[in-house]
Amino acid sequence: MSKTSLSMIVQVKQKTQAAADIACFELVDPHGRELPAFTAGAHIDVQTADEHLRQYSLSNASRERQRYQIAVLREPQSRGGSLAMHEQVQEGDYLRISAPRNHFAVDHAAQRSVLFAGGIGITPILAMAEELHAKRAEFELHYSASTPDNAAFVDYLKAAPFADRVAFHFTQVTDGQRIDLASMAARPETATHIYVCGPEAFNDAVMSAYESAGWPKQQLHTEYFVGATVDTSSDGSFEVQLARSGLSFQIPPDKSVADVLIDNDIDLLTSCEQGICGTCVTKILEGTPDHRDRYLTDGEQAANDQFTPCCSRAKSKRLVLDL
Ligand code: FES
Repeated sequence: MSKTSLSMIVQVKQKTQAAADIACFELVDPHGRELPAFTAGAHIDVQTADEHLRQYSLSNASRERQRYQIAVLREPQSRGGSLAMHEQVQEGDYLRISAPRNHFAVDHAAQRSVLFAGGIGITPILAMAEELHAKRAEFELHYSASTPDNAAFVDYLKAAPFADRVAFHFTQVTDGQRIDLASMAARPETATHIYVCGPEAFNDAVMSAYESAGWPKQQLHTEYFVGATVDTSSDGSFEVQLARSGLSFQIPPDKSVADVLIDNDIDLLTSCEQGICGTCVTKILEGTPDHRDRYLTDGEQAANDQFTPCCSRAKSKRLVLDL
C-alpha cells in the first residue's frame, strides 16, 4: 500500500455546478477551525470516493483561511477520480486531503505577471489573480476555453474587482477572440513573469511562443495536469540499491521504482504517480537516472542527484538511493 500525504479531514460545505462538466467544491474544517495557510498556485491531494488519490489546485483567495475551493472537470478519459468526485461526493460528506503544497507559486518580485488559463487550468490561475490583486500588483489574465458554458468562474471573473484585467478567448464562439501569442511574446521583458496552466497542447503552445521569442526560462512558469508521454518500448530492467538498509531490488521494464519499493514495504511517499507533483522525489547517491517527470527543473534534472521514482528510471545499470 502506497504511503500518502493525506493528513486532514475536511467536510464538503457546498457543491455547485461551475460549468457544463465542472463541479466546484467548498471544503471546510468539520469543527469550523481555520485551515492551514496556502499561497496561490498550491494544490491539495484528495482521496476520492473510489480510493483514488488526485491533485486539485486551490482556486480561492489565499487570504481565506476558513475554506478551500477546488473545481473538478469530469474527464471522459478519467482514471476514475474525477468521475467519483462528480457522482459520489455530496454536500456534508467528509474527504481526506493533504495539506496544501505549492510548486507553481507566484514570484512577487516581478513587476508584472501575465496569467494564461486553458479550460480547467483556471483553478490555480484564479487564485493567482486574487493574490496579485490583493497585493495591488500589475497583472493580466487570459482565459481560453471552447465556449462560456464550458468555462468555470466566468460570471465570477466578470464581476471581480479585477475584471478589467481579464480577457476571455472562446475558441468555438463566433467572433471569439483568440490569443495572439506571437505578438504578446514578441518583445521579452526582464521584469515580467508568465504563468500557464491548461491542457498539454495549450501549455506547450504558450511556452513555445515565449521560449522561441527569447524569454528566459526562469520567467516562464507552467503546471501540467498529466505526466509526459514517454516511449517505453525499449525500457529494460535495472537494479536499485537502498543505501541505508543495503537492500537491493531489480526493477523490471513494466514496473516503476516506486511500485517495486512499495510492494516491498519500503516507506516512500507518493501522490500523483506520474511525475508532476514532486511528492516522491528521492536523492540519488550513485548512478544516472533517466528523468521522465515534469516536476524537476532542467537544472535539477541535469544535476542527476535526485529523481522521481514514480515514473523515472535509470540510464545506468544500478542506482543507489538515499533511502
Ligand atoms: Fe508525484 Fe512522483 S508521486 S512526482
